[in-house]
Amino acid sequence: MKKLWGGRFSKNTDKKVDDFNSSISFDSKMYRQDINGSIAHCEMLSKQGILPEQEAQLIVKTLGAILKDIEEDKVSFSIEAEDIHMNIEKLLIERIGDVGKKIHTARSRNDQVALDLRLYLRDECEKVYQLICQLKKTLVMLAETNIDVVMPGYTHMQKAQPVLFAHHMMAYYEMFSRDNQRLAQSVVRMNVSPLGSGALAGTTYPIDRSYTASQLGMNSITQNSIDAVSDRDFVIETCFVMSMIMMHISRFSEEIILWSSSEFGFVELDDAYSTGSSIMPQKKNPDVAELSRGKTGRVYGSLIALLTIMKGIPLAYNKDMQEDKEQVFDAVETVLETLPVFSDMLATITINKEKMIQGLQSGFLNATDAADYLAKKGLPFRDAHKIIGELVLYCIDGGKSLEQLTVEEFKRFSNLFEQDIYNAISYRKCIDARDSKGGTSTEQVKNSIAQAKKALEDEGSV
Ligand code: ARG
Repeated sequence: MKKLWGGRFSKNTDKKVDDFNSSISFDSKMYRQDINGSIAHCEMLSKQGILPEQEAQLIVKTLGAILKDIEEDKVSFSIEAEDIHMNIEKLLIERIGDVGKKIHTARSRNDQVALDLRLYLRDECEKVYQLICQLKKTLVMLAETNIDVVMPGYTHMQKAQPVLFAHHMMAYYEMFSRDNQRLAQSVVRMNVSPLGSGALAGTTYPIDRSYTASQLGMNSITQNSIDAVSDRDFVIETCFVMSMIMMHISRFSEEIILWSSSEFGFVELDDAYSTGSSIMPQKKNPDVAELSRGKTGRVYGSLIALLTIMKGIPLAYNKDMQEDKEQVFDAVETVLETLPVFSDMLATITINKEKMIQGLQSGFLNATDAADYLAKKGLPFRDAHKIIGELVLYCIDGGKSLEQLTVEEFKRFSNLFEQDIYNAISYRKCIDARDSKGGTSTEQVKNSIAQAKKALEDEGSV
């Protein structure tokens, strides 16, 4: 087959080169964006008098028909035509002959591919955004329905202070909210049209770049034609945002895995969201959480691959950049497939309130409150810390918890202890006394749930 660019060649490309060079097997995903970009470009050419109106109408109509045929699976793409851009141009020429050959006026594949990828990722980011909204709703639902559930909070994976389970859920709500902010901000930078930058230096035709951009719902146009065709920052940024989302999902997965172990027993996964073992009949495994954690590595891989692909490329376009697509497509698809199953696994989880309370019985989670008790009675905090440290040691030796000591035992360590110490170190008190803004008191957590519910109602799109 003669190539669309075959004029200066006297031989066909080797079959191995066609296979190696071709990107159609993965960039065909962008067929819709490619066609919409071409339609906008063609309408602009006609408005500017670069293309006769009748010809432009024929091109636009035929591109619409090609789109429909692709969607109905009536079109097959060819490896020899290399990529989605030339496959669509080839189909156009096959259908309307010479008029079709005019679509590439005032355009290069370099600005075309930069446009298509921006449009494609813009649409994908919107899907991710909506799925994160869904996950945030699940978190708020879990927090609200379990507002009375207390659990040990950990630092260094050692018991630290008691917290509300709802507070822990709302911590993830904050992380995913920032992920959605990042998505929205990256789309602002992405949603800028490079079309009209040509191969690298601009074009000699009197085009209207802003018109094409606004036809495509883009915010603005790129300012430098060399940058416009060389830049893949937006691809890397998308991969970074996907990596951050997966990092959050992975930390959460790690907790679900730990919490559903018999050592913790804090939660139980629904049968529909766990799996069995082929040999051990008793097993109920948290595969969804484990796979979510595992897939994080693959998304990070795409981010590192892209950074590496781009780091040594001189300006402007180089074919190395074709390697961007599989990486970013895979990263986005992984997030798109992980989020719904992860959300539903969470939504169907059973919270084992009793086990969480049991977790509070050991580990001296109220030791800070005992120190605060002394400090509030006038002892410098550092001295109070030391006394409680000694008390804890005493309890460890005697196999007791702080609240099991008698007032006399307390008084052996400090005269400031009175009967009211028991109230000060009760777990409920430890939680509700942490009423500072953003703290774990029921009051604070209820506030953040109410705010989150309001924010979720107003949440639109990316
Ligand atoms: N398939 C190519 C890519 O994804 C399109 C741009 C090709 N441009 C070129 N000058 N060969 O990068």
